Amino acid sequence: MKFGVIGHPISHSLSPIMHVANFNALGRNDQYSALDVSPQDFQYIKEIIKENELNGFNITIPHKESIIPYLDEISPSAEHIGAVNTVLVKDDKWIGYNTDGIGFVKGLIDKHGSIDNDNILVLGAGGASKGIVSEMMKFTNNKITVANRSITRFDNWKLDVEAMSLTDVKDILNTFDIIINTTPVGMNESSSELIIPIENINKNTLVCDIIYIPNKTPFLQACEKRGLAIYNGLDMFVYQGAESFKIWTGKEAVIEEMKNKVKNELK
Ligand code: ATR
Repeated sequence: MKFGVIGHPISHSLSPIMHVANFNALGRNDQYSALDVSPQDFQYIKEIIKENELNGFNITIPHKESIIPYLDEISPSAEHIGAVNTVLVKDDKWIGYNTDGIGFVKGLIDKHGSIDNDNILVLGAGGASKGIVSEMMKFTNNKITVANRSITRFDNWKLDVEAMSLTDVKDILNTFDIIINTTPVGMNESSSELIIPIENINKNTLVCDIIYIPNKTPFLQACEKRGLAIYNGLDMFVYQGAESFKIWTGKEAVIEEMKNKVKNELK
């Protein structure tokens, strides 16, 4: 079968080598390619996918929302999040899914164990946050707190969360067992900005970032220096890919092979 990832820019994507590692581990002859499609050319997406004879594909920045009008069907959770990262091509029909949220949550539970009774804080209220929060709600009994720079971001949120500003959450940081940064703060290595003041975080808190390049954001570095447990976004990347593979083929991916390959590339 043929798969691929559509994005712009895309040349640095680790998705092809990660998926090929899985195909090899399973003894499959599948192919996975990276296709650079600029926003101007996105109108030709139907033709591009047909030409490449893809059975399924991933969609990444900046097209996760632009793909939606081209779909024949969309999963309820992708519709709710308003973003699609996985498309299944079935009998010429395109069905859209979002595996980012479940990717993060599966990785988190694998690392941390059950999150049933944890008090969780999510920083940021964009698409990534919405996907992660809606998936986590299935696994925890507590109401999740979401803090964002601008409070108006919550206007289109239908999820039952404790919504607050980044400023207000600073006073209650010591009440959380797990804190997850979903904003791009820390992605740019030249900035040492921390999204929240880390001195208020409880010593037993697990601090997560969905960024994995750099492998430790200034936020994670500072938390680690304080002796806190940290967790970056690498597992989320691997598990979202594994979930996409399952949607396309109905088969379980070999997570460890995928993870090792990506880790090696990032060394
Ligand atoms: P994604 O799909 O990656 O979640 P997005 O939907 O554009 O991207 O959302 C980006 C999130 O990061 C938003 O919550 C944004 O906050 P605002 O709603 O206030 O814009 C947050 N964000 C981006 N840059 C930030 C910064 N410098 N400080 C704090 N939050 C930031």
